[in-house]
Amino acid sequence: MAAFLRRYGVGARWYDTLSGERWVYRAGRLAGVQLLAPRPGDVVVDLGCGTGLNFLLLFEAVGPRGMIIGVDRSPDMLDRARRRVDRAGWDGQVRLLQADAVRLDPSDVVDLAGRPADALFSTYALSVIGDRQTAWNLSLETLRPEARACVVDMQPPRGTWRFLSPLARLACAAGGADITARPWRLLERVADPSTLRRSERKGGHIVVVAGDIA
Ligand SMILES: C[S@@+](CC[C@H](N)C(=O)[O-])C[C@H]1O[C@@H](n2cnc3c(N)ncnc32)[C@H](O)[C@@H]1O
Repeated sequence: MAAFLRRYGVGARWYDTLSGERWVYRAGRLAGVQLLAPRPGDVVVDLGCGTGLNFLLLFEAVGPRGMIIGVDRSPDMLDRARRRVDRAGWDGQVRLLQADAVRLDPSDVVDLAGRPADALFSTYALSVIGDRQTAWNLSLETLRPEARACVVDMQPPRGTWRFLSPLARLACAAGGADITARPWRLLERVADPSTLRRSERKGGHIVVVAGDIA
């Protein structure tokens, strides 16, 4: 717990600057929103939303009639997310819920949105969550039937990028992520196989999987 608070408590202040967003991880969220393809008016749950780095991309897709529900365990990360929302004037469109995904009450999300969500998006968060299967199952309960989902997460780089593997492992360990977790498999198991879409970025370090829940 102490380590978690250090990472996403004090660390929240520096997360956007030190997380490698510009050079590495932004590529994954761009690809993720593209593969998820939220529609105007959609409600999207951003699981483990952190400081809200996905919000602008999601907001551009769902538009003013849509809604984003950001769920995160860390009050400090959510504080940063709240400031982002206030600065952008998204108050009606982005709602934040402080909750441990492993103990999430799905009805809290549905109540905030006013209806079950159309899509689930999770970037670089499921590899951090210990009991990710439980978190995933509870998150699915926030969705309407045949909703879409997209998981963006990390694995060691491959091929010519393999030489960066030690660096990637170090960065993931520093952020508390299990680089071996492959959490996109949670989605692959429950999606209609004919709808599965997959993409990789940064030498395979970032894996993006999207699909419709069967
Ligand atoms: C590496 S950050 C990713 C944040 C954001 N999704 C992004 O792409 O920048 C992981 C996030 O997961 C959150 N998190 C970790 N365990 C969690 C849990 N059990 N329930 C909810 N959020 C959790 C952390 O607070 C942190 O904000």
